[in-house]
Amino acid sequence: MKPLSVVIAACLILSIAPLANAIHETQPAETPVPLPGADAVKLYEYLTKHKPYTSWELWPGKGKMYKGTQPHGEFLTTYVNDTAMFGIRDRKGIMPEGTIVAKENYDTDKKFAALTVMYKIKGYNPAAANWFWAKYDGGGKVLASGRVEACIKCHGAKKDNDFIFTGALKK
Ligand code: HEC
Repeated sequence: MKPLSVVIAACLILSIAPLANAIHETQPAETPVPLPGADAVKLYEYLTKHKPYTSWELWPGKGKMYKGTQPHGEFLTTYVNDTAMFGIRDRKGIMPEGTIVAKENYDTDKKFAALTVMYKIKGYNPAAANWFWAKYDGGGKVLASGRVEACIKCHGAKKDNDFIFTGALKK
């Protein structure tokens, strides 16, 4: 090989190498995981893999295992995603779409009994503030999901607060 062709060959290899690297990294670890649709199984996966809800912030002013009421359980721990936190702090009286509130329900013996979730999806159920409702048992099995009448009926008492009980969303 002549020296020039060696240089050309080297240049070719060098210009292709980053490309190969880029193909390898089509999904770097930091890629945000897209929100699931109105699907309880996918929602649970979203809540427990990647960035689990247990690493989210707690509802402001509420610690872990605060005293709950029926039907949810004796003790509750309520986590909110960043969008929910924005909605709470924004004080507009309405949670933005993409809000997820995930509440762990514990029985009198402080045994984890169920996970109940409210997830706001654009246009999902305009008659009831577009919440997707979900309830899972301690192992993640879906017990109820969707436009669940029982959830909507009771939470409807807080219609003026976007169906949310835990804290006032307006000043
Ligand atoms: C009989 C009334 C009632 C029913 C039925 C009910 N909830 Fe609740 N929910 C409450 C109350 C009251 C709270 C506030 C926490 C507490 O004091 O227990 C609450 C809190 C929550 C929260 C925390 C956010 C908020 O609104 O404060 C979530 C999430 C939730 N419920 C989900 C559900 C789901 C999902 C269902 C249906 C499977 C459901 N709830 C059914 C009364 C109810």
